[in-house]
Amino acid sequence: MTNGADTQPRKRVAVLISGRGSNMMSLVEASRALAYPAEIVTVISNRPAAPGLAWARAQGIETVALDHKAYPSRAAFDDALDAAIKATGADIVACAGFMRLMTKELVERWHNRMINIHPTLLPSFKGLDTHARALATGVRIAGCTVHIVRAEMDAGPILGQAAVPVLDADTPDTLARRILTAEHRLYPQVLSLFAAGAYDIHQDTARLKGASTNDAMLFSPPS
Ligand code: GRF
Repeated sequence: MTNGADTQPRKRVAVLISGRGSNMMSLVEASRALAYPAEIVTVISNRPAAPGLAWARAQGIETVALDHKAYPSRAAFDDALDAAIKATGADIVACAGFMRLMTKELVERWHNRMINIHPTLLPSFKGLDTHARALATGVRIAGCTVHIVRAEMDAGPILGQAAVPVLDADTPDTLARRILTAEHRLYPQVLSLFAAGAYDIHQDTARLKGASTNDAMLFSPPS
């Protein structure tokens, strides 16, 4: 299929999830616009009971459940995952709450074609339990990051970030909710740019082609 803006074929995107899938839903909703340069062709989960998988199925999107517990090793699971992604003819893999570490081999097969969203301003707070850890350090600004996946966990060229204030009354749950709202705006925007080929990608960094004109500032507390 082509997008409405020109004759470029839309990039085919496989989304990997493990649970709720709200980021995947934001990508699917964004991709319904004719001019969006990517289409979500499949949603794959390592957890067959992931609620996001049922939602995608109800939208008529092809889904694949690959239970990682059924595989003897991480490498065997990753081979099956790679085959499932390839079978859809995907150009891009978008991880959205996919809670499995990947082998270096799988990441390298999708070099510069696999992206992820993480609920912190990377490189701060890699890993799990991010919101409680951010609150414990007393940071006043938090946020989320979309980045290209490299073999090291939560690392790789940063494609986009969104920042939110941390409030005095925040709990990990309230902070997570505020960041998630930002995630749902950031991920579709970044996937659109990525699919449209708007980035120059290097080993450790990515830059938007053309000058950036964004000089917005976020103060916390407000200035
Ligand atoms: C999001 O906060 C995402 O950044 C993180 O896991 C969470 C997944 O949420 N990697 P959802 O499944 O997209 O609702």
